[in-house]
Amino acid sequence: MTAKIAPSILAADLLHLGEQIAAAEQGDADRFQVDVMDGVFVPNISFGLPVVAAVRRATKLLVEAHLMIVEPERYVEGFAQAGADVIIVHQEAAVHLDRIVQHIKQLGKKAGVALNPATPANVLDQIVEQVDLVLVMTVNPGFGGQTFIPHTLRKIRQVQQLLAARNPACEIEIDGGVEVDTIGAAYEAGARVFVAGTSVFKHPAGAAAGVRALLGAVAASGNRAE
Ligand code: DX5
Repeated sequence: MTAKIAPSILAADLLHLGEQIAAAEQGDADRFQVDVMDGVFVPNISFGLPVVAAVRRATKLLVEAHLMIVEPERYVEGFAQAGADVIIVHQEAAVHLDRIVQHIKQLGKKAGVALNPATPANVLDQIVEQVDLVLVMTVNPGFGGQTFIPHTLRKIRQVQQLLAARNPACEIEIDGGVEVDTIGAAYEAGARVFVAGTSVFKHPAGAAAGVRALLGAVAASGNRAE
């Protein structure tokens, strides 16, 4: 399966968000991710419901809401109404993860679970059949422009094996430090959806070139479409 790029608007020029989204679409982005941060679960505050609604108006592609917030159950309904197609909650923040995942799906949305770098893949054991997407964080969440954490490759492989055995339809997404020199190894390890902020929206030739460079790097690494 070909790689799918999910530009993260955290790195976009928010003054020209619509144009930035259109440019990333030109480069064949598959979807967009909105990084929601509350300053509690992560040491940063970003944006919330109004920005998801704005991104919804700007694109027909999938919109993911990545909730880096405590007690995400409080806002699942709000992000569904704002137009998110995929709602991703952190396992570390979800005391009642099964209930939250069921709620997201009852709202007609896809349910994603995110794992921080130190969280082992086996926390998925009792929920793996229920989810539509697993997001393996390849940086510690909170900021764009960080360096890919190499030991997460092992976890990507573990998640890939778990999903191959128990939920092959579930997507494996990674987020953080996705660049032309890291995406090939991550694809090889089993990742198929790649959240990328800096390498897309800070690309010197623009967002379309940034997306195309990432897709080209996967092809060049010998990982052909299956
Ligand atoms: C969590 C955020 C970032 C962002 C991607 O910190 O989720 O990972 O989306 O950041 P880049 O692609 O700039 O590393």
